[in-house]
Order: sequence, then structure tokens, then C-alpha cells
Amino acid sequence: MKGKVDVLLGAVWGDEGKGKIVDYITPQYDIVCRFQGGSNAGHTIYNNGIKHVLHLIPSGIFNKNCINVIGNGVVIDPIELIGEIQTLENLGIDVKSNLIISNKAHLILPIHKLIDKQNEESKGKSKIGSTLKGIGPTYTDKISRSGIRVGDIFGNLQKKSSDLTSEHLYVNKNLDNFCLDPQNFKDRQLFIEACEKLKDYTIVDTTYYLNQALLEGKSILAEGAQGCLLDVDFGTYPFVTSSNTTVGGVITGLGLPATKIDKVIGIFKSYTTRVGSGPFPTELDDQMGELLRQKGQEFGATTGRPRRCGWLDLPLLKYSCMINGITELHLMKLDVLNDFDKIKICTNYIVDGKITDQVPYDLDEVENVDYKEFDGWNSEDIMKSNHFTDLSWNCQNYVKFIEKYLNIPIKLISVGPDRNQVIT
Ligand code: GDP
Ligand code: IMO
Ligand code: MG
Repeated sequence: MKGKVDVLLGAVWGDEGKGKIVDYITPQYDIVCRFQGGSNAGHTIYNNGIKHVLHLIPSGIFNKNCINVIGNGVVIDPIELIGEIQTLENLGIDVKSNLIISNKAHLILPIHKLIDKQNEESKGKSKIGSTLKGIGPTYTDKISRSGIRVGDIFGNLQKKSSDLTSEHLYVNKNLDNFCLDPQNFKDRQLFIEACEKLKDYTIVDTTYYLNQALLEGKSILAEGAQGCLLDVDFGTYPFVTSSNTTVGGVITGLGLPATKIDKVIGIFKSYTTRVGSGPFPTELDDQMGELLRQKGQEFGATTGRPRRCGWLDLPLLKYSCMINGITELHLMKLDVLNDFDKIKICTNYIVDGKITDQVPYDLDEVENVDYKEFDGWNSEDIMKSNHFTDLSWNCQNYVKFIEKYLNIPIKLISVGPDRNQVIT
């Protein structure tokens, strides 16, 4: 038996429906892993009609036969993690037996969340639109070699965390204002308590665990958080997150060899959304955008913020397929486009007066976009379909056009939030 690693990645700006699909395909895997990001992610799953939003725990947790790994590349807020574990345990889910946490993952301290907030406030109008979960400052400490890792909770965590907090306060005097808030003293205490509680869970070197699993022929799914265009290297910098959300993140975030990667699933919606600031060439700043938002219920799963909405952007998707080596696509939320008389897809950009399908250095350089217009399909039945041939001709045409443009098979279409609302 040969072990393998498949990867599922958000192909655009996040919130593509990764949670739903990971949950749906989990029965095919022995292990599901998160490899980057932290509780900035919000992955929605409907399990027995109940809505769950996971932030740190991989979306395989609802399948009792699946082991869920939080890899070394993730940044963990212990307060959030313990909260998430407790919510799941209250629902009768056996998290203790099915969750493994890397001892090399970095910890988000309360001070990191304060720095996040302060950084955003100081940027004013040019703020990133961060979820303020402390992601950026924690990765900053990781890269500058002053971070604290999960394994440190077995040492003198109290001293390490208070030293790191003092260092930040020494360098950044403005933080004193934030620290006066009594909630911050409480949070520092909660942080220590949460780390203490984490000791009851399995904390190991997940790199050895995962590579041993591969040797034993196990199949592993790496669950991406955010999306390709939020990648710190390949996204719309600086309006990105602070990790590699693309396929390279799997290798550094789990310690698995690149040669073991088999399928790379790229997941995208039938239109485009983005939360937070930054360029968005196909954004609909009008009633049509509002209609997409209402029909798609486009409100952040982590922050509740309204998501910006626009038409599908194929140059962006093509770029994402290229960087990630996507081998198959999953098209989500096709049902949301029901009832639209006309639907548009962006096929090219105009940059510097010239037509191109390449993503420029800065997406703000896009002067205009070329759209291809499609007739809508006005049919609610799509939500009950399980076969591609059940879809109306106009709807099939829309899907086939995307597939042809990207030259990658669309192997799954999602037509509703429920686990069984899929066309394969
Ligand atoms: P993730 O971060 O990629 O896991 O995605 P989110 O959970 O943030 O956002 C996706 C939203 O779309 C969630 O509310 C899902 O329940 C919902 N959803 C997923 N697939 C479909 C679909 O095919 N149709 C509709 N209408 N909603 C969907
Ligand atoms: P999932 O996994 C959509 C966005 C934020 C902000 C930028 C930086 O649910 O798809 P950060 O908190 O990382 O400093 O924010 O990235 N962002 C997301 N947008 N989905 C996400 O995760 C996101 N995680 C972060 O809105 O623009
Ligand atoms: Mg989300």
C-alpha cells in the first residue's frame, strides 16, 4: 500500500466552501491536516442539519474514523482552540481521540492580538482588514525567531510569555494604552489556563507522525485556509494574510515531501468574493453585488463582516491553477446564480491599454475588464440536482465555458450548503 497526500486549496480570496468539501470527502482519508493560518479561518459545515464553524480544528472532525492534525505551520490561539474543542465535546464529538497538535506550531499570545489591532489602527484608510486574530504579529515573531511554540507549554511558559510580552511593550510604547484595558490582564491569565488545558490533548512532532502514516499506506488530506490570492508571496500584497496559503505551504507546514502530493483540488465559487481591503477588478459595487451578497449569504464566518461580491474572474483562477498545479476543480455555490437573467465572467484584463489574461504586479493596474455574458437559467431545481445532465442547458454552458478556459476538469459542483447538495 502506498500512502499519499491530497491537497484542497481555496483558489481565490477564501471562503470558497472548503469546510463543506473537506467534510464531504473526509471518508476517503485517514488523516485531515491544517497546515497554515489560524483562527482567521472560518470553515462552515452542516452536520445533521446543524451549522458549525471551525476555525482551527480541521474539517474532518465530524468523521469519527478520521484523525485531525494541526500542523507546525499553523499559528494557534490556545484560548480559541480550547473554546472550539469544548464546543465540539459538548456536542458529543470525541476530540481527544481524534486531534493531534504539532509541538512546533507557534502560539498566538494576547499581545499579538493587541499588536494586530494597533497595526491596523495606525494604517488608517489603508488598513488590511485583518480579522484581528493576531495572525500577522505571531508569524512575524516566528520569522524573527522570538516566537513561542506549543512544545514550550511543557517548560516555563509563564516566564517565556511574559518576557515576550515585555519585549513588545518595551519596543512599542504605544501598546501601553491598549494594555491598560483590564480585559488584557484577564486574557493573559486565560492564555496560561488554556495552555494548561491543552496538555490533556495529544501534542507530538506531527512531522514524524505524518511521515510514518505515509509509510503505513495512509491517505492524508491537507486542508488549506484562506485562498491563493491571500498568499503572502503570490497574493494581492500587502492585502494578504501572513502565510503561504498555496501548495508550498503544505510542505513547510506539515513536513511532508513534495513528491508525495497527488491531487491538488482547487475550490472556487461561481462568482467572486473578498473580505477586507485590496483590489478586486470584478467587484460589483451596486445592486447586483448586493443581490449576490444576499443570495449567497456572503457574511464572514469569522467576523460576520459583509463580503465584497463580484463576477467570476478567470485570469485570477488561471493564475491560481498555475501556481498550485491544480489537478481538479470544485465549483461551489452554483445555485446562488439562479434567477439572474444575465451572468458575466471576466476573461481578460486591460492593463496599460493592452488586453491580457495575466495577473499584473498590482491588481490595481487593471484599467478595465473584458466580460463574456451568459444567459441565466432561472431554475430552483438545480439545488436538488445530483447529475450534471439534470442542469439546464444554459447552466451547463456556464460550467463548460469555465472548464474549457482553464483546461482543468471540474470534478464537483456544489448546489447548496448541505453535505449532499453536490453534483459529481
Ligand atoms: P470556507 O472558509 O472556504 O470553508 O467557506 P465559508 O464557510 O467561510 O463560506 C462558505 C459559505 O457558503 C458557508 O456559509 C457554506 O455553508 C456556504 N456554502 C457552501 N457551499 C455552498 C453551495 O454550494 N451553495 C450555497 N448556497 N451555499 C454554500
Ligand atoms: P477562510 O479559511 C477570507 C483576510 C482578511 C484580511 C486578510 C488578512 O475562512 O477562507 P488576517 O486576519 O490574516 O490578518 O487577515 O485576509 N482573511 C480571510 N478572508 N477567508 C479567510 O479564511 C480569511 N482569513 C483571512 O479578511 O483581508
Ligand atoms: Mg471562511
